[in-house]
Amino acid sequence: MHPTNKRPENEDLSTAWTPALKKLVARCRDQVDEALGTLLRDPNRYTHDVYRAMRYSLTSGGKRLRPVLCLLTCRLLAGRSAPALPVACALEYVHTYSLIHDDLPALDNDDFRRGKPTCHKKFGEATAILAGDALLTEAFALLSRRDLLRRLEPDRRLRIITEISRAAGLAGMIGGQEADLQAEGKQVSLDYVNALHGRKTGALIAAALVCGGLVGGGDPRTLKTLRAVGNRIGLAFQIQDDLLNVEGQSRLTGKATGTDALRQKATYPALIGLEESRRTARRLVQEAVALLKPFGPRGRPLGAMSYYIIARNR
Ligand code: IPE
Ligand code: IPE
Ligand code: MG
Ligand code: MG
Repeated sequence: MHPTNKRPENEDLSTAWTPALKKLVARCRDQVDEALGTLLRDPNRYTHDVYRAMRYSLTSGGKRLRPVLCLLTCRLLAGRSAPALPVACALEYVHTYSLIHDDLPALDNDDFRRGKPTCHKKFGEATAILAGDALLTEAFALLSRRDLLRRLEPDRRLRIITEISRAAGLAGMIGGQEADLQAEGKQVSLDYVNALHGRKTGALIAAALVCGGLVGGGDPRTLKTLRAVGNRIGLAFQIQDDLLNVEGQSRLTGKATGTDALRQKATYPALIGLEESRRTARRLVQEAVALLKPFGPRGRPLGAMSYYIIARNR
């Protein structure tokens, strides 16, 4: 079955979130927060500004979407999320680094993130650059620690490292960031924006699912499905980010609105308008949910997260 050929049965945004599901996701978030706190706790480093900047950005109220997706995917396949925790934390390190650098004057030049001054506003540009560099490096140090992921086959561990480095590198986020900057003030095609969004944001979100699948013991076919789900919700996520930049409330998003138009960014709303952008994001999520169907009720948490991605206001 091709994912676009079949629509999921009447998925209702308001009912997708049962209290049990909410509790499950909250528990995943808590697990991530706790693990991040433990992994970061190193008294000798407290004296360093760079370390303080890393902590500041890591604990400033992110939604933890990528780690939660990783944990839920592992749980879907293996019945437990805990084994994927180190990978979930590494994903959040990479994501946090990307935001610190994205906000720098040389890139988007933003002053607020998650309702707080951006890292460079708080600590200065040099420290913010170094904090980003350190988070990216520490992500891979984490993935290669002997005491973590001990039960995972070496080949799977290696594939996780490959997956995250590709998603973060030139073929992924960095390439996407370059395309984003190059498109400022220019007329670009929808194909260009799709490729941009896919690399800038979609790649790491897809990696979160694939890596959760790798820890959970997924076979090649399952991993392929997870990547297809991740690509769809990753693109939908960035479309929603574009929409929130136009019609969101900065007291909820924690960042400035209207800035994409100001910088003439290549976004979905700029190219096809608000309504069509919403429709596209919704279609992508429906396709993702259809792809999750073979997992049966166990796929519900990921389905609900997929809907959350386009229903969110922050
Ligand atoms: C924002 O990501 C940047 C994009 C990739 C669009 P999130 O919206 O996941 O950021 P936080 O971590 O919740 O602040
Ligand atoms: C951020 O994209 C993507 C990365 C950091 C890789 P945006 O620049 O569109 O996201 P916000 O709106 O600043 O969070
Ligand atoms: Mg940007
Ligand atoms: Mg930005």
